[in-house]
Amino acid sequence: MTDVPVRIVVAKLPPDPPPASLFTVVSPQERESSRTFRTADRRAQFLAGRLLARHALRLMTEAEARATVLRDERGRPFFAPPYDGVHLTIAHTSSVVVAGCSPEPIGIDVETLRDIPYAARLAVRTLPAALAAEVAATPVERRSRAFLRHWTALEARAKVTGAGVQTLFRVDPDPAVHIRHVPVGAGSVVALAALQPNVREVVDDSELW
Ligand SMILES: CC(C)(COP(=O)(O)OP(=O)(O)OC[C@H]1O[C@@H](n2cnc3c(N)ncnc32)[C@H](O)[C@@H]1OP(=O)(O)O)[C@@H](O)C(=O)NCCC(=O)NCCS
Repeated sequence: MTDVPVRIVVAKLPPDPPPASLFTVVSPQERESSRTFRTADRRAQFLAGRLLARHALRLMTEAEARATVLRDERGRPFFAPPYDGVHLTIAHTSSVVVAGCSPEPIGIDVETLRDIPYAARLAVRTLPAALAAEVAATPVERRSRAFLRHWTALEARAKVTGAGVQTLFRVDPDPAVHIRHVPVGAGSVVALAALQPNVREVVDDSELW
């Protein structure tokens, strides 16, 4: 079975807002969408995701792609034709942005690795009982990471199907969705969800503005 290629691009979100000129790089539809966000930080995340999406597409197709990224009614990003055969996923935190492309559906989530004082309680509210028990049984110094690995897996699953996270709370993970955690740097936890087990991901670092 041939491996499914996945190109992932990761960048730090710069503390400064993007220069206005960068908004002209994206399509009029994307500029219009970016205006719907209330905060400058959210607009920056949105723009960063789209810049990295194009970067990942260029790496995957080796073409000088001038692609447009659209969103479906649930917020899921996708490439407009002629790149609609390439699946796209985007995730961001306040400091890191990740975009991934593949010929097959994928979902990515990123979380900042941080101390979560109520990790065991959060796990009970969001994860199936067996996984919540696993988090609670993890030594306290590793418990936040254990929770974040399950949480990013849950969000990545929500993105690969486009279903949304709420539908997956406390639900046993679908064995048809394969999860792997991708090392992208010490401060972040990244999960990649795919509908096939034989995924081969390549991760590139990038810079934004
Ligand atoms: C998708 C979801 C898991 C994202 O989680 P989050 O922690 O808020 O944000 P993340 O940084 O991880 O991901 C954000 C990115 O996910 C992508 N995304 C949003 N909704 C998505 C969906 N339904 N499926 C796949 N990807 C989605 C977008 O690219 C978004 O970034 P962008 O708006 O800048 O393009 C979560 O918002 C969710 O469950 N949404 C579903 C909402 C829904 O079903 N709404 C229905 C009617 S409005």
